[in-house]
Amino acid sequence: MVTGAGAGFGKAAAEKLASEGASIVAPDIDASALGATLDTCRRLGAKVVGGCHDVSSERDWEQVLSKAECEFGKLDGLINNAGYMLTKPYLQTSLDEFRKIHRVNVESIWISVQAAYSLLKKGASESPGGSASVINVSSIYGQVSGFAQSAYCATKGAVRMLTKSQAVEFARAGDGIRVNSVHPGPGNTALAQTGIAQMMAAGMVASEDEALTFLRTLIPAGRFAEAEDIADLMVFLCSDASRYFTGAEFTLDGGYTAL
Ligand SMILES: NC(=O)c1ccc[n+]([C@@H]2O[C@H](COP(=O)([O-])OP(=O)(O)OC[C@H]3O[C@@H](n4cnc5c(N)ncnc54)[C@H](O)[C@@H]3O)[C@@H](O)[C@H]2O)c1
Repeated sequence: MVTGAGAGFGKAAAEKLASEGASIVAPDIDASALGATLDTCRRLGAKVVGGCHDVSSERDWEQVLSKAECEFGKLDGLINNAGYMLTKPYLQTSLDEFRKIHRVNVESIWISVQAAYSLLKKGASESPGGSASVINVSSIYGQVSGFAQSAYCATKGAVRMLTKSQAVEFARAGDGIRVNSVHPGPGNTALAQTGIAQMMAAGMVASEDEALTFLRTLIPAGRFAEAEDIADLMVFLCSDASRYFTGAEFTLDGGYTAL
């Protein structure tokens, strides 16, 4: 299951997993954006369940997981990908804005893993490798500070530590559920476009070109991540090849945080 599968990293992950033979649960809050993802997954031969799903709603989680259970009876993997970024100076960010981004980026994962636990446990018990995989999408801004991103950084830092806490608890319980966090650097998706528009609105840069040049100088590899770069890692983390990884941080940033 991949949340926020209508665009960006989630779309690429769902399609890549389908191409590797997985059945896919691929919801998004924007159901109209899902058509292309679902069509591609079906064309690749995957069984697919879609649907409108707000990750911050407990009721939506109940509904989508009940559909997944009816169709597949278990979950082998859960990618908590849906989220958004807010680029705004700390002193100008309201408590309501902070609470909203916290609900979508953090509370969603709090709810999802509890709600999906029994289906994941079943997936682990039936898997040849003996494990099911949860992937929580954080960001490099859960590891280092970003420019005017205090609210976003706070949420992604929380995702990082929630991941480790879930991983340790589940490993000790012996249920076979692994949990890892993924930390992309700037990616070539709609989210980054919004970030650049917000940088301009905050007067941090004068133009899109200036923002792109500024961000690229922070990335030794000289380019943003493509969604496929992230999707390849998701496939590895969903597979038995990653069976001994749990509680780990996977940073994909073209060297950004190594500088
Ligand atoms: N693109 C980047 O630069 C970057 C870098 C690091 C981390 N990330 C993280 O990766 C994840 C995916 O980002 P992306 O760049 O693909 O974003 P994106 O905006 O391209 O796609 C996000 C998808 O999630 C959906 N979504 C948003 N809010 C939702 C909600 N409440 N419930 C369900 N679906 C919702 C959107 O409709 C959209 O289809 C996010 O968690 C983001 O914070 C992105």
